[in-house]
Amino acid sequence: MIQLIRGFKDILPGEVEIWQQVEKIAVSLLQDFGFKEIRIPILERTELFARSIGEDTDIVEKEMYTFPDRKGDLITLRPEATASVCRSYIQHKLYAKDPVRKFYTIGPMFRRERPQKGRYRQFYQINAEILGVESPLADVELILLLVSLFSKLSVSDIETHINSLGCPECRPNFKTALSGFISTETTHLCSDCIRRKDRNPFRVLDCKVPACREAMTDAPSILDYLCSVCTRHFEIVNEELEALKIPFIIDKRLVRGLDYYIRTTFEIHTGSLGAQSAVAGGGRYDGLIKLLGGPDMPATGFAIGLDRLAEITGLDTSDLIQTPDIFLAALGEKCRTLAFGWKCALGLEGIRADMDFENRSLKSQMKRADKLKASHVLIVGEKELEEGSAVLRNLTTKEQVLIPLENIIAKVKAKLRS
Ligand code: HAM
Repeated sequence: MIQLIRGFKDILPGEVEIWQQVEKIAVSLLQDFGFKEIRIPILERTELFARSIGEDTDIVEKEMYTFPDRKGDLITLRPEATASVCRSYIQHKLYAKDPVRKFYTIGPMFRRERPQKGRYRQFYQINAEILGVESPLADVELILLLVSLFSKLSVSDIETHINSLGCPECRPNFKTALSGFISTETTHLCSDCIRRKDRNPFRVLDCKVPACREAMTDAPSILDYLCSVCTRHFEIVNEELEALKIPFIIDKRLVRGLDYYIRTTFEIHTGSLGAQSAVAGGGRYDGLIKLLGGPDMPATGFAIGLDRLAEITGLDTSDLIQTPDIFLAALGEKCRTLAFGWKCALGLEGIRADMDFENRSLKSQMKRADKLKASHVLIVGEKELEEGSAVLRNLTTKEQVLIPLENIIAKVKAKLRS
């Protein structure tokens, strides 16, 4: 038997209803806040991700599904959506008509990470991006959206972590101080951190290896190195979150795994997910649009891990799984053909109708209706045809009524909706 690829998964009926509901609630909230949907390709040129996410990140170094297409150009299954949204904004000159754009996009991403609970090689994200806004209020709006969405989905037990990564003005000073600190701790660091410490010392700050975490406990904090503009930006984020009564934790180790961030970064963590506790992450990425060949536009955004969110939402699935409104039990060839016509007509009228296409006994058709958890059964056999009415049985109350065959669709519909 051919099995699916490690780290990939099927989302089966029974589970998919939760995904649909989460997406529905998220889309409605995003639209209420003025976000418009954008759909971007799953394959892009490798260079797009290498340049935006950064050559020295885990994603670009070892996790991308990259391969040459038939002409030899390197292409990559997208590991995230932000780079593509920026590419699209630049390519279609969307900034020319209106530089301020709010986009959302939902879809699969691909990273060749070591699979474990909550970590997959194909996973899904809900992305929201605000392009063209420099104000810290845009960062706050995004955090508010995340917190509100989790609350609407009955996800409790969340923590909002925020930090600032400074800007090209102030970050170099911090980088020097951090590198100086790291050089005093090299004997305690893992081989990945040793390799990265010169090119990308920020990554050492969020290494998950316990010895590295311990060694970095007293590392300098970026917040002590922010320039006045970044300090004010971060203060406004803090003040506005407080004004909106959103609890948050300032987390000086929050550097994120992608290189494009400046100033505000944030993550939402939950205790319910074990090791993979980040259910959403994002931040500001002024400079990325310019780096990709577009105008110098600020931007900020987030992505939610849909797989992780679906695992922790408190939504009650029993209400979400759809069962037939009516099951048509027909006896004999003639009645089956008649019932098939009714089934199709009811379906087109928005009534979930089902039936057995084979020539089975009434008993076995009733069993199937029970199994499908249909709420009503409409029985039609030779006797009913002769008498000119079918029997409608409510499977919960066991109440039975006769429905005249003439204009039966409208009559059944009215009865079911009464
Ligand atoms: P990210 O932190 O790499 O950010 O991913 C966002 C979320 O996607 C994570 O918090 C996690 O819930 C989920 N996720 C990531 N990798 C996996 C995986 N292997 N399996 C399951 N879930 C995963 C970004 O991707 C940025 N593009 C977010 C952003 C948008 N920043 C600005 N705009």
